[in-house]
Amino acid sequence: MRYPYQIKSREEYDKIYHKSVEHPLEFWDEIAQHFTWKKKYDSVLEWDFRQAHSKWFSGGKLNITENCLDRHLADKADVPAIIFEPNNPDEHHRVLTYRELHFKVMQFAQVLKNNGIKKGDRVCIYMGMIPELAIATLACARIGAIHSVIFGGFSAQSISDRIQDAEAVAVVTCDGAHRGNKTIELKSVIDDALMSCPTVKSVIVCTHTRTPVSMIKGRDMWWEDEIKKVETQGNPFVAAEEMDSEDELFILYTSGSTGKPKGVVHTTAGYMVWANYTFVNVFQYQPGQIHFCTADIGWITGHSYIVYGPLSAGATTLMFEGIPTWPDAGRFWEIIDKYNVDILYTAPTAIRSLMGFGDEPLKNRNLSSLKVLGTVGEPINEEAWHWYNEKIGKSNSPIVDTWWQTETGGIMISNLAGITPSKPSYATLPLPGIQPLLVDENGKEIQGNGVTGNLCIKFPWPGIIRTTYGDHERCRQTYFSTYDNLYFTGDGCLRDENGFYRITGRVDDVLNVSGHRIGTAEVENAINMHAGVVESAVVGYPHDIKGQGIYAYVIYTGTHGDDNLTRLDIIQTVSRIIGPIAKPDKIQFVSGLPKTRSGKIMRRILRKIAEGELSNIGDTTTLLDPMIVDEIKEGRL
Ligand code: WT7
Repeated sequence: MRYPYQIKSREEYDKIYHKSVEHPLEFWDEIAQHFTWKKKYDSVLEWDFRQAHSKWFSGGKLNITENCLDRHLADKADVPAIIFEPNNPDEHHRVLTYRELHFKVMQFAQVLKNNGIKKGDRVCIYMGMIPELAIATLACARIGAIHSVIFGGFSAQSISDRIQDAEAVAVVTCDGAHRGNKTIELKSVIDDALMSCPTVKSVIVCTHTRTPVSMIKGRDMWWEDEIKKVETQGNPFVAAEEMDSEDELFILYTSGSTGKPKGVVHTTAGYMVWANYTFVNVFQYQPGQIHFCTADIGWITGHSYIVYGPLSAGATTLMFEGIPTWPDAGRFWEIIDKYNVDILYTAPTAIRSLMGFGDEPLKNRNLSSLKVLGTVGEPINEEAWHWYNEKIGKSNSPIVDTWWQTETGGIMISNLAGITPSKPSYATLPLPGIQPLLVDENGKEIQGNGVTGNLCIKFPWPGIIRTTYGDHERCRQTYFSTYDNLYFTGDGCLRDENGFYRITGRVDDVLNVSGHRIGTAEVENAINMHAGVVESAVVGYPHDIKGQGIYAYVIYTGTHGDDNLTRLDIIQTVSRIIGPIAKPDKIQFVSGLPKTRSGKIMRRILRKIAEGELSNIGDTTTLLDPMIVDEIKEGRL
């Protein structure tokens, strides 16, 4: 038995869950014993939801990289920590053992130190999915710098907003990244972003695609040159900075109901314990297995289930640079057979897209190494669930449907693979320590089973959001003020007769497009920046592959070009302001928007129209101009 806290049966789950609710402090105190502390904590938990305060393992001293690297050197030095599969299947893969990863993290930690970066400094990381991304992330943690990883699909403007908000002092990037047959010119995007980021003093550029880049004297330097300097320094041992349990580990920006993304802050000890505990229990990871999470490290899924969860557990994590459909739609299956992958963790949008290619890409694929399948990021429809189960899992690999959020740090509601039952399209049961409840609009708890409501959590867990960077009040407002003394998730939820939870989707103005979280207000702001646009309203609509598509209603008074060209121009503006991930799928030009007398846009009506529910619009009598609804209905795309 390798992980003493790995739940082994349904009965044990029931017992442990009960204990975690009745005696949470004792429960977490026991789990925390299984980590390496430089100094033990004084208290397990202090909290006050009304102030948005949760402190875990206060007074403890540790470094997460000692838990992810150093402590495995005794018995796992030669075990692969990271297996890297490049975008192009014809290129060689790379394996980094725990010894090698430890060494490389220390080298890069020394590079950061040589450039004056110290504990508490913010470092923005904007790289492709290559091992150096994980190395840079861990090197920050090693010296106590706070990393803020930004997904490669964000624009210069988005990056600059995030860098300014975090007042980052350094950027780590690549010349470029490969994605299928495309090369993304990352350094060039960073150069544009940095025109408005005076806090950034150094930019470290890792060579990868050898896309030509401009290197600014005094600011930009090559990763490889900096490593050479460290080698001539004799590769000093970089001691892990002593961090307080509640010292900030990272910031990760995510979208909300307002136009401005917020910097979700996670701290050291609680996040580590939570990422590890959920990894070991949900996926039922066994030492020696290969864990393949297809997310990007630019999202929380990559932080928790490519980097920190697996590495803190001494696991082998597979990092894939490419995309599921290049060179063909068999790429995932090829990788699984190549490495005998045990656990595959991916998103419903990928499953639906691959399902669309039929059985052909699965021909001559074995997939018999797979033991556990996982999904995350959005509700999975039953059809996709069954396809995943039958075609990929051959009906004998349990599927874990894992519900969680950037703000929760790790998985909150999910079955435990092979231990607790699964049910198609249900996340099922809460993890130990998680106390979900459903409330109605007034915040009244909805008791019993076979009910729906808004999903809240009533007690802290170690991975809970600590603050929104630089603006604690925003954190309190967003998550802890809608309902008194509860954390509000923003999700609607159903609890069936057996007490199983099914997450039905966001109840706020947040879209989930291909598992990417995008605020409608953000997209509207971007559209409104386009010359000639007077006003816009953005809603989501059901999309076969993406889960949700982006539907924009736009009042445009410009005279330039025809409608289709104007649409392309607007899409270009959104791409420039936010990034290609936020491009509207449909743009309908309208002469007005349905507004109440007080000027509020009635999104409910727009959503119904976008969904095609034209006969079921509901009450329009409170509208300032009810006629506009007919016009919009007629012009529906
Ligand atoms: C939102 C959080 C958690 C990592 C990836 C997304 C939706 C997430 C599920 C699931 C139904 C899900 C929720 C949630 N979501 N997982 N298994 N079933 N919905 O993180 O970008 O912070 O988005 O994704 O709506 O609130 P995120």
